[in-house]
Amino acid sequence: MRPAAAPGSLAEPGVISGPGVISGPGGMLEPGRKLEPGRPPELQGLLAGMAAAGAPRRTGRVVAVSGLGSEVTGLALPVGGVVRCGGGLAEVVSAGPGSLRCMALEPAARLQVGDDAVAAPDSGLVRIGPGLLGRVLDGLGRPIDGKGPLAGTVPVDSHQAPPEALERSRIREQLSTGVRAIDAFTPLGRGQRMGLFAGSGVGKSSLLSMVARGSEAALSVIALVGERGREVREFLEDDLGPEGLARSVVVVATSDQPALMRLRAARTATRIAEHFRDGGADVVLMMDSLTRVAMAQREIGLTSGEPPATRGYPPSVFPLLAGLLERTGPAPVGSITALYTVLVEGDDHNEPVADTVRSIVDGHIVLDRALAVSGHYPAIDVLGSVSRLESRIASPPVRAAATAVRRVMAARAQARDLIDVGAYKAGANPLVDAALRHQADLDAFLRQDMDHPVPAAVSGQGIQELAAKLAAGA
Ligand SMILES: Nc1ncnc2c1ncn2[C@@H]1O[C@H](COP(=O)(O)OP(=O)(O)O)[C@@H](O)[C@H]1O
Ligand SMILES: [Mg+2]
Repeated sequence: MRPAAAPGSLAEPGVISGPGVISGPGGMLEPGRKLEPGRPPELQGLLAGMAAAGAPRRTGRVVAVSGLGSEVTGLALPVGGVVRCGGGLAEVVSAGPGSLRCMALEPAARLQVGDDAVAAPDSGLVRIGPGLLGRVLDGLGRPIDGKGPLAGTVPVDSHQAPPEALERSRIREQLSTGVRAIDAFTPLGRGQRMGLFAGSGVGKSSLLSMVARGSEAALSVIALVGERGREVREFLEDDLGPEGLARSVVVVATSDQPALMRLRAARTATRIAEHFRDGGADVVLMMDSLTRVAMAQREIGLTSGEPPATRGYPPSVFPLLAGLLERTGPAPVGSITALYTVLVEGDDHNEPVADTVRSIVDGHIVLDRALAVSGHYPAIDVLGSVSRLESRIASPPVRAAATAVRRVMAARAQARDLIDVGAYKAGANPLVDAALRHQADLDAFLRQDMDHPVPAAVSGQGIQELAAKLAAGA
Protein backbone atom coordinates (compact mmCIF):
# COMPACT_ATOMS: atom_id res chain seq x y z
CA MET A 1 0.00 0.00 0.00
CA ARG A 2 1.10 3.48 -0.77
CA PRO A 3 1.33 5.67 2.36
CA ALA A 4 -1.30 8.35 2.58
CA ALA A 5 -0.10 11.63 1.13
CA ALA A 6 -0.28 14.83 3.14
CA PRO A 7 -3.67 16.44 2.73
CA GLY A 8 -3.80 18.92 -0.06
CA SER A 9 -0.43 18.07 -1.53
CA LEU A 10 0.53 16.58 -4.82
CA ALA A 11 2.67 13.77 -3.47
CA GLU A 12 4.30 12.94 -6.76
CA PRO A 13 3.56 13.75 -10.35
CA GLY A 14 0.79 11.58 -11.55
CA VAL A 15 -0.85 10.94 -8.19
CA ILE A 16 -3.88 12.82 -7.06
CA SER A 17 -4.01 13.14 -3.31
CA GLY A 18 -5.68 15.07 -0.59
CA PRO A 19 -9.20 15.43 0.65
CA GLY A 20 -10.54 17.25 -2.40
CA VAL A 21 -11.34 15.91 -5.78
CA ILE A 22 -10.07 17.23 -9.03
CA SER A 23 -12.39 17.21 -11.94
CA GLY A 24 -11.09 17.18 -15.45
CA PRO A 25 -12.33 16.24 -18.84
CA GLY A 26 -11.64 12.61 -17.97
CA GLY A 27 -14.09 12.64 -15.08
CA MET A 28 -13.63 12.63 -11.29
CA LEU A 29 -10.56 10.99 -9.81
CA GLU A 30 -10.44 9.53 -6.35
CA PRO A 31 -7.51 10.48 -4.16
CA GLY A 32 -4.51 8.18 -4.36
CA ARG A 33 -5.35 6.72 -7.71
CA LYS A 34 -2.43 6.27 -10.05
CA LEU A 35 -2.66 7.66 -13.54
CA GLU A 36 -1.72 5.20 -16.18
CA PRO A 37 -0.46 6.02 -19.64
CA GLY A 38 -3.36 5.96 -22.00
CA ARG A 39 -5.47 8.26 -19.85
CA PRO A 40 -7.21 11.05 -21.75
CA PRO A 41 -4.56 13.55 -22.92
CA GLU A 42 -6.50 16.50 -21.45
CA LEU A 43 -6.07 14.95 -18.01
CA GLN A 44 -2.38 14.36 -18.57
CA GLY A 45 -2.05 18.00 -19.62
CA LEU A 46 -3.89 19.14 -16.53
CA LEU A 47 -1.59 17.14 -14.31
CA ALA A 48 1.53 18.24 -16.11
CA GLY A 49 0.45 21.84 -15.63
CA MET A 50 -0.07 21.27 -11.94
CA ALA A 51 3.24 19.52 -11.52
CA ALA A 52 4.94 22.34 -13.39
CA ALA A 53 3.40 24.83 -11.02
CA GLY A 54 5.75 23.23 -8.52
CA ALA A 55 3.50 23.81 -5.57
CA PRO A 56 0.42 22.22 -4.12
CA ARG A 57 -2.90 23.59 -5.24
CA ARG A 58 -4.83 24.50 -2.16
CA THR A 59 -8.31 25.84 -2.36
CA GLY A 60 -10.33 27.60 0.28
CA ARG A 61 -13.56 29.53 0.16
CA VAL A 62 -14.50 33.17 0.43
CA VAL A 63 -17.01 33.42 3.31
CA ALA A 64 -17.34 37.20 3.66
CA VAL A 65 -16.67 40.23 1.47
CA SER A 66 -16.55 43.83 2.60
CA GLY A 67 -15.44 47.06 0.97
CA LEU A 68 -11.82 46.68 1.97
CA GLY A 69 -11.31 42.98 2.31
CA SER A 70 -12.57 39.45 2.43
CA GLU A 71 -12.55 36.48 4.76
CA VAL A 72 -11.34 33.09 3.58
CA THR A 73 -11.70 29.68 5.25
CA GLY A 74 -10.14 26.35 4.41
CA LEU A 75 -6.62 27.66 3.72
CA ALA A 76 -3.65 27.69 6.06
CA LEU A 77 -1.42 30.57 4.98
CA PRO A 78 0.83 32.92 6.90
CA VAL A 79 0.25 36.66 7.09
CA GLY A 80 1.71 37.99 3.86
CA GLY A 81 0.60 34.92 1.86
CA VAL A 82 -1.27 35.54 -1.35
CA VAL A 83 -4.53 34.03 -2.61
CA ARG A 84 -6.24 34.33 -5.97
CA CYS A 85 -9.97 34.89 -5.74
CA GLY A 86 -12.62 36.61 -7.81
CA GLY A 87 -10.18 37.10 -10.68
CA GLY A 88 -7.68 39.13 -8.63
CA LEU A 89 -4.96 38.64 -6.04
CA ALA A 90 -5.43 39.26 -2.33
CA GLU A 91 -2.95 39.17 0.54
CA VAL A 92 -3.49 37.73 4.01
CA VAL A 93 -3.29 40.60 6.51
CA SER A 94 -4.41 38.77 9.65
CA ALA A 95 -5.31 35.25 10.63
CA GLY A 96 -7.86 34.13 13.20
CA PRO A 97 -9.11 30.71 14.31
CA GLY A 98 -10.22 29.00 11.13
CA SER A 99 -10.24 32.03 8.88
CA LEU A 100 -7.95 34.47 7.14
CA ARG A 101 -8.58 38.16 6.65
CA CYS A 102 -7.44 39.22 3.21
CA MET A 103 -7.08 42.54 1.43
CA ALA A 104 -6.98 43.09 -2.30
CA LEU A 105 -3.63 43.32 -4.07
CA GLU A 106 -5.39 43.77 -7.36
CA PRO A 107 -8.93 45.03 -7.76
CA ALA A 108 -11.22 41.98 -8.01
CA ALA A 109 -14.25 43.06 -9.96
CA ARG A 110 -16.56 40.21 -9.08
CA LEU A 111 -15.55 38.82 -5.72
CA GLN A 112 -18.44 37.18 -3.92
CA VAL A 113 -19.18 34.85 -1.04
CA GLY A 114 -18.70 31.24 -2.10
CA ASP A 115 -15.86 31.99 -4.55
CA ASP A 116 -12.86 29.71 -4.55
CA ALA A 117 -9.70 31.13 -2.99
CA VAL A 118 -6.55 29.48 -4.28
CA ALA A 119 -3.15 29.87 -2.63
CA ALA A 120 -0.86 31.61 -5.13
CA PRO A 121 2.39 29.68 -5.17
CA ASP A 122 4.83 32.50 -5.93
CA SER A 123 3.62 35.03 -3.39
CA GLY A 124 6.24 37.50 -2.27
CA LEU A 125 8.57 36.93 -5.19
CA VAL A 126 10.19 39.67 -7.23
CA ARG A 127 12.16 39.12 -10.43
CA ILE A 128 15.65 40.56 -10.41
CA GLY A 129 18.42 40.74 -12.98
CA PRO A 130 20.13 43.06 -15.44
CA GLY A 131 17.09 42.90 -17.73
CA LEU A 132 15.29 45.29 -15.36
CA LEU A 133 17.19 48.36 -16.55
CA GLY A 134 15.02 50.73 -18.55
CA ARG A 135 11.84 48.92 -17.53
CA VAL A 136 8.67 50.12 -15.82
CA LEU A 137 7.13 47.66 -13.37
CA ASP A 138 4.04 47.38 -11.20
CA GLY A 139 4.09 46.89 -7.42
CA LEU A 140 4.76 43.16 -7.77
CA GLY A 141 7.61 43.76 -10.20
CA ARG A 142 5.68 42.77 -13.33
CA PRO A 143 6.38 44.81 -16.47
CA ILE A 144 3.70 47.33 -17.44
CA ASP A 145 5.53 49.10 -20.27
CA GLY A 146 4.48 46.77 -23.05
CA LYS A 147 8.08 45.84 -23.83
CA GLY A 148 7.52 42.13 -23.25
CA PRO A 149 8.78 39.80 -20.51
CA LEU A 150 11.79 40.66 -18.35
CA ALA A 151 14.81 39.06 -19.99
CA GLY A 152 17.47 37.41 -17.85
CA THR A 153 15.74 37.73 -14.50
CA VAL A 154 15.20 35.26 -11.66
CA PRO A 155 12.56 35.30 -8.91
CA VAL A 156 13.69 36.06 -5.35
CA ASP A 157 11.95 36.78 -2.05
CA SER A 158 10.88 40.43 -1.88
CA HIS A 159 12.21 40.71 1.65
CA GLN A 160 15.90 40.75 2.40
CA ALA A 161 17.41 41.38 5.82
CA PRO A 162 19.34 44.65 6.08
CA PRO A 163 23.15 44.46 6.27
CA GLU A 164 24.54 43.91 9.78
CA ALA A 165 25.25 47.24 11.45
CA LEU A 166 28.92 46.50 12.05
CA GLU A 167 29.51 45.10 8.58
CA ARG A 168 28.32 48.21 6.81
CA SER A 169 31.09 50.30 5.34
CA ARG A 170 31.42 53.88 6.62
CA ILE A 171 30.09 56.69 4.46
CA ARG A 172 33.11 58.73 3.37
CA GLU A 173 32.72 59.54 -0.29
CA GLN A 174 30.45 62.07 -1.87
CA LEU A 175 28.01 60.99 -4.57
CA SER A 176 27.65 63.70 -7.18
CA THR A 177 23.94 64.35 -7.74
CA GLY A 178 24.45 66.83 -10.56
CA VAL A 179 22.39 69.42 -8.65
CA ARG A 180 24.54 72.40 -7.58
CA ALA A 181 22.48 73.45 -4.56
CA ILE A 182 22.61 69.91 -3.17
CA ASP A 183 26.24 69.08 -3.95
CA ALA A 184 27.53 72.37 -2.50
CA PHE A 185 25.33 72.81 0.57
CA THR A 186 23.89 69.42 1.52
CA PRO A 187 26.29 66.94 -0.10
CA LEU A 188 25.08 63.40 -0.35
CA GLY A 189 27.41 60.59 0.68
CA ARG A 190 27.43 57.22 -1.05
CA GLY A 191 24.98 55.26 1.06
CA GLN A 192 23.38 58.26 2.74
CA ARG A 193 19.62 58.38 3.26
CA MET A 194 17.97 61.75 2.77
CA GLY A 195 14.44 62.99 3.29
CA LEU A 196 13.10 65.42 0.70
CA PHE A 197 10.43 67.43 2.49
CA ALA A 198 7.96 69.43 0.43
CA GLY A 199 4.34 70.19 -0.25
CA SER A 200 2.72 69.03 -3.46
CA GLY A 201 3.58 70.73 -6.73
CA VAL A 202 6.81 72.29 -5.44
CA GLY A 203 9.09 70.29 -7.70
CA LYS A 204 9.88 67.01 -5.92
CA SER A 205 9.42 64.80 -8.96
CA SER A 206 11.36 67.19 -11.17
CA LEU A 207 14.25 67.24 -8.69
CA LEU A 208 14.27 63.45 -8.48
CA SER A 209 14.43 63.16 -12.24
CA MET A 210 17.31 65.66 -12.29
CA VAL A 211 19.20 63.38 -9.91
CA ALA A 212 18.25 60.27 -11.90
CA ARG A 213 19.69 61.79 -15.04
CA GLY A 214 22.59 63.74 -13.62
CA SER A 215 23.99 61.70 -10.74
CA GLU A 216 27.16 59.69 -11.09
CA ALA A 217 25.43 56.58 -9.70
CA ALA A 218 25.48 53.59 -12.00
CA LEU A 219 21.73 53.38 -11.90
CA SER A 220 18.60 54.60 -10.17
CA VAL A 221 15.60 52.71 -8.88
CA ILE A 222 12.56 54.96 -8.73
CA ALA A 223 9.39 54.03 -6.84
CA LEU A 224 6.36 56.15 -7.68
CA VAL A 225 3.84 55.38 -4.97
CA GLY A 226 0.39 56.94 -4.79
CA GLU A 227 0.88 59.33 -7.71
CA ARG A 228 -1.94 60.11 -10.08
CA GLY A 229 -1.85 57.99 -13.23
CA ARG A 230 -1.46 61.06 -15.45
CA GLU A 231 1.65 62.17 -13.55
CA VAL A 232 3.39 58.85 -14.10
CA ARG A 233 3.40 59.20 -17.88
CA GLU A 234 4.50 62.85 -17.62
CA PHE A 235 7.30 61.86 -15.27
CA LEU A 236 8.53 59.09 -17.54
CA GLU A 237 8.32 61.03 -20.79
CA ASP A 238 8.99 64.65 -19.85
CA ASP A 239 11.04 64.57 -16.64
CA LEU A 240 13.02 61.36 -16.87
CA GLY A 241 13.16 61.09 -20.65
CA PRO A 242 14.58 58.16 -22.61
CA GLU A 243 18.18 58.68 -21.47
CA GLY A 244 17.13 58.87 -17.80
CA LEU A 245 14.95 55.78 -18.14
CA ALA A 246 17.77 53.83 -19.81
CA ARG A 247 19.73 53.90 -16.53
CA SER A 248 16.71 53.48 -14.24
CA VAL A 249 14.21 50.92 -13.07
CA VAL A 250 10.82 52.45 -12.32
CA VAL A 251 8.26 50.80 -10.02
CA VAL A 252 4.79 52.30 -10.12
CA ALA A 253 1.69 51.93 -7.94
CA THR A 254 -0.76 54.74 -8.60
CA SER A 255 -3.16 56.18 -6.03
CA ASP A 256 -6.12 54.19 -7.33
CA GLN A 257 -4.41 50.86 -6.67
CA PRO A 258 -5.11 48.90 -3.48
CA ALA A 259 -3.09 49.88 -0.40
CA LEU A 260 -1.25 46.55 -0.40
CA MET A 261 -0.04 47.11 -3.95
CA ARG A 262 1.28 50.56 -3.01
CA LEU A 263 3.11 49.05 -0.06
CA ARG A 264 4.49 46.24 -2.21
CA ALA A 265 5.82 48.80 -4.69
CA ALA A 266 8.00 50.27 -1.93
CA ARG A 267 9.30 46.81 -1.02
CA THR A 268 9.81 45.74 -4.62
CA ALA A 269 11.81 48.86 -5.46
CA THR A 270 13.94 48.38 -2.34
CA ARG A 271 14.56 44.75 -3.25
CA ILE A 272 15.63 45.67 -6.78
CA ALA A 273 18.00 48.33 -5.41
CA GLU A 274 19.43 45.70 -3.02
CA HIS A 275 20.02 43.35 -5.91
CA PHE A 276 22.14 45.84 -7.85
CA ARG A 277 23.92 46.92 -4.65
CA ASP A 278 24.80 43.29 -3.85
CA GLY A 279 26.51 43.22 -7.24
CA GLY A 280 28.79 46.00 -5.96
CA ALA A 281 27.05 48.97 -7.59
CA ASP A 282 26.39 52.37 -6.06
CA VAL A 283 22.65 52.65 -6.55
CA VAL A 284 20.36 55.60 -6.02
CA LEU A 285 16.90 54.68 -4.71
CA MET A 286 14.21 57.33 -4.90
CA MET A 287 10.83 56.89 -3.29
CA ASP A 288 8.11 59.36 -4.16
CA SER A 289 6.43 59.51 -1.78
CA LEU A 290 7.22 57.78 1.50
CA THR A 291 4.21 59.53 3.04
CA ARG A 292 1.94 57.64 0.68
CA VAL A 293 3.63 54.37 1.65
CA ALA A 294 2.84 55.21 5.28
CA MET A 295 -0.74 56.03 4.32
CA ALA A 296 -1.05 52.65 2.59
CA GLN A 297 0.11 50.92 5.78
CA ARG A 298 -2.38 53.02 7.76
CA GLU A 299 -5.18 51.69 5.58
CA ILE A 300 -3.94 48.12 5.98
CA GLY A 301 -3.40 48.42 9.75
CA LEU A 302 -6.83 49.90 10.41
CA THR A 303 -8.52 47.27 8.23
CA SER A 304 -6.79 44.44 10.05
CA GLY A 305 -8.00 45.73 13.40
CA GLU A 306 -5.17 47.91 14.71
CA PRO A 307 -6.13 50.97 16.73
CA PRO A 308 -5.41 54.43 15.33
CA ALA A 309 -2.66 55.73 17.63
CA THR A 310 -0.90 58.85 16.36
CA ARG A 311 -3.10 61.13 14.27
CA GLY A 312 -4.91 58.17 12.78
CA TYR A 313 -1.72 56.21 12.09
CA PRO A 314 -1.79 52.76 13.71
CA PRO A 315 1.37 51.63 15.57
CA SER A 316 2.55 49.32 12.74
CA VAL A 317 3.32 52.30 10.49
CA PHE A 318 6.41 53.37 12.43
CA PRO A 319 8.29 50.06 12.54
CA LEU A 320 7.38 49.64 8.87
CA LEU A 321 9.10 52.91 7.99
CA ALA A 322 12.12 52.08 10.15
CA GLY A 323 12.40 48.61 8.60
CA LEU A 324 12.11 49.87 5.05
CA LEU A 325 14.69 52.62 5.55
CA GLU A 326 17.09 50.30 7.35
CA ARG A 327 17.40 48.21 4.20
CA THR A 328 19.06 51.05 2.31
CA GLY A 329 22.33 52.80 3.12
CA PRO A 330 25.89 51.48 2.94
CA ALA A 331 26.67 47.75 2.83
CA PRO A 332 29.85 45.67 2.92
CA VAL A 333 29.93 46.02 -0.89
CA GLY A 334 28.07 48.64 -2.89
CA SER A 335 25.65 51.15 -1.44
CA ILE A 336 22.11 52.43 -1.75
CA THR A 337 21.93 56.18 -1.56
CA ALA A 338 18.28 56.87 -0.88
CA LEU A 339 16.04 59.87 -1.37
CA TYR A 340 12.61 59.64 0.24
CA THR A 341 10.09 62.36 -0.42
CA VAL A 342 7.85 63.34 2.47
CA LEU A 343 4.75 65.48 2.08
CA VAL A 344 4.59 68.39 4.48
CA GLU A 345 1.47 70.38 3.77
CA GLY A 346 0.86 73.68 5.54
CA ASP A 347 4.25 73.60 7.30
CA ASP A 348 3.02 70.93 9.67
CA HIS A 349 6.34 69.72 11.00
CA ASN A 350 4.71 67.76 13.82
CA GLU A 351 3.08 65.51 11.29
CA PRO A 352 3.97 62.01 12.58
CA VAL A 353 5.38 60.60 9.32
CA ALA A 354 7.61 63.65 8.76
CA ASP A 355 8.71 63.46 12.39
CA THR A 356 9.56 59.77 12.20
CA VAL A 357 11.39 60.01 8.89
CA ARG A 358 13.42 62.99 10.08
CA SER A 359 14.58 60.94 13.05
CA ILE A 360 15.70 58.03 10.87
CA VAL A 361 17.39 59.63 7.85
CA ASP A 362 20.84 61.21 7.71
CA GLY A 363 19.68 64.62 6.60
CA HIS A 364 16.88 66.50 4.94
CA ILE A 365 16.42 68.71 1.92
CA VAL A 366 13.48 71.10 2.21
CA LEU A 367 11.70 72.53 -0.82
CA ASP A 368 10.08 75.92 -0.38
CA ARG A 369 6.80 76.83 -2.02
CA ALA A 370 7.62 80.55 -2.01
CA LEU A 371 10.72 79.89 -4.11
CA ALA A 372 8.77 77.68 -6.51
CA VAL A 373 6.03 80.29 -6.88
CA SER A 374 8.64 82.90 -7.79
CA GLY A 375 10.03 80.56 -10.46
CA HIS A 376 13.21 79.73 -8.54
CA TYR A 377 13.97 76.10 -9.41
CA PRO A 378 15.04 73.79 -7.93
CA ALA A 379 13.15 75.35 -5.03
CA ILE A 380 15.63 74.15 -2.38
CA ASP A 381 15.52 76.03 0.91
CA VAL A 382 19.27 75.97 1.50
CA LEU A 383 19.05 77.36 5.03
CA GLY A 384 16.41 74.83 6.07
CA SER A 385 18.29 71.83 4.64
CA VAL A 386 20.93 69.77 6.43
CA SER A 387 23.21 66.89 5.56
CA ARG A 388 24.32 65.18 8.74
CA LEU A 389 27.39 63.84 6.98
CA GLU A 390 28.57 67.09 5.45
CA SER A 391 31.57 67.34 7.76
CA ARG A 392 32.75 63.90 6.72
CA ILE A 393 32.24 63.99 2.98
CA ALA A 394 32.76 67.59 1.84
CA SER A 395 36.33 68.83 1.40
CA PRO A 396 37.35 71.53 3.94
CA PRO A 397 37.57 74.39 1.40
CA VAL A 398 34.11 73.57 0.00
CA ARG A 399 32.66 73.34 3.51
CA ALA A 400 34.18 76.68 4.46
CA ALA A 401 32.84 78.29 1.31
CA ALA A 402 29.36 76.83 1.86
CA THR A 403 29.34 78.12 5.44
CA ALA A 404 30.36 81.59 4.30
CA VAL A 405 27.65 81.70 1.64
CA ARG A 406 25.07 80.42 4.13
CA ARG A 407 25.93 83.22 6.56
CA VAL A 408 25.30 85.78 3.84
CA MET A 409 22.01 84.15 2.89
CA ALA A 410 20.94 83.97 6.53
CA ALA A 411 21.69 87.66 7.06
CA ARG A 412 19.67 88.52 3.99
CA ALA A 413 16.77 86.36 5.16
CA GLN A 414 16.76 88.09 8.54
CA ALA A 415 16.71 91.51 6.95
CA ARG A 416 14.08 90.55 4.36
CA ASP A 417 11.24 92.55 5.93
CA LEU A 418 13.35 95.69 6.09
CA ILE A 419 14.59 95.23 2.55
CA ASP A 420 11.07 94.60 1.23
CA VAL A 421 9.70 97.86 2.66
CA GLY A 422 12.78 99.82 1.63
CA ALA A 423 13.85 100.47 5.24
CA TYR A 424 17.21 98.72 5.02
CA LYS A 425 20.11 101.18 5.04
CA ALA A 426 23.21 100.16 3.10
CA GLY A 427 26.17 99.70 5.43
CA ALA A 428 24.08 98.49 8.40
CA ASN A 429 25.26 94.90 7.92
CA PRO A 430 28.17 94.02 5.62
CA LEU A 431 26.75 90.51 5.07
CA VAL A 432 23.41 91.90 3.89
CA ASP A 433 25.25 94.38 1.68
CA ALA A 434 27.19 91.53 0.11
CA ALA A 435 23.97 89.59 -0.46
CA LEU A 436 22.29 92.55 -2.13
CA ARG A 437 25.30 93.34 -4.28
CA HIS A 438 25.68 89.74 -5.44
CA GLN A 439 22.04 88.66 -5.54
CA ALA A 440 22.38 87.78 -9.23
CA ASP A 441 25.44 85.60 -8.58
CA LEU A 442 23.70 83.83 -5.71
CA ASP A 443 20.64 83.18 -7.85
CA ALA A 444 22.73 82.01 -10.78
CA PHE A 445 24.44 79.48 -8.55
CA LEU A 446 21.28 78.19 -6.84
CA ARG A 447 19.02 78.06 -9.87
CA GLN A 448 19.58 75.27 -12.31
CA ASP A 449 17.97 74.14 -15.47
CA MET A 450 16.63 70.60 -15.33
CA ASP A 451 18.57 69.60 -18.43
CA HIS A 452 21.99 70.76 -17.27
CA PRO A 453 23.49 68.55 -14.59
CA VAL A 454 26.76 69.79 -13.10
CA PRO A 455 29.34 67.42 -11.56
CA ALA A 456 29.93 67.94 -7.82
CA ALA A 457 33.58 68.88 -8.43
CA VAL A 458 32.48 71.79 -10.63
CA SER A 459 29.89 72.88 -8.05
CA GLY A 460 32.59 72.73 -5.35
CA GLN A 461 34.74 75.05 -7.43
CA GLY A 462 31.73 77.29 -8.08
CA ILE A 463 30.83 77.72 -4.42
CA GLN A 464 34.41 78.71 -3.61
CA GLU A 465 34.38 81.35 -6.34
CA LEU A 466 31.01 82.62 -5.08
CA ALA A 467 32.27 82.81 -1.49
CA ALA A 468 35.36 84.71 -2.67
CA LYS A 469 33.16 87.22 -4.54
CA LEU A 470 30.91 87.75 -1.52
CA ALA A 471 33.91 88.22 0.77
CA ALA A 472 35.54 90.70 -1.60
CA GLY A 473 32.35 92.70 -1.75
CA ALA A 474 31.85 92.73 2.02
N1 LIG B 1 13.69 72.56 -12.20
C1 LIG B 1 12.53 73.04 -12.68
N2 LIG B 1 12.53 73.89 -13.71
C2 LIG B 1 11.38 74.40 -14.18
N3 LIG B 1 10.18 74.13 -13.69
C3 LIG B 1 10.09 73.27 -12.67
C4 LIG B 1 11.27 72.68 -12.12
N4 LIG B 1 10.88 71.87 -11.10
C5 LIG B 1 9.54 71.96 -11.05
N5 LIG B 1 9.05 72.79 -11.97
C6 LIG B 1 7.63 73.14 -12.19
O1 LIG B 1 6.86 72.75 -11.06
C7 LIG B 1 5.80 71.90 -11.45
C8 LIG B 1 5.55 70.84 -10.41
O2 LIG B 1 6.72 70.05 -10.27
P1 LIG B 1 6.66 68.55 -9.76
O3 LIG B 1 8.05 68.07 -9.80
O4 LIG B 1 5.64 67.77 -10.49
O5 LIG B 1 6.17 68.76 -8.26
P2 LIG B 1 5.81 67.68 -7.14
O6 LIG B 1 6.40 66.39 -7.56
O7 LIG B 1 6.42 68.21 -5.89
O8 LIG B 1 4.33 67.64 -7.04
C9 LIG B 1 6.24 71.32 -12.78
O9 LIG B 1 5.15 71.03 -13.60
C10 LIG B 1 7.06 72.45 -13.37
O10 LIG B 1 6.23 73.37 -14.04
MG1 LIG C 1 5.37 64.63 -7.86
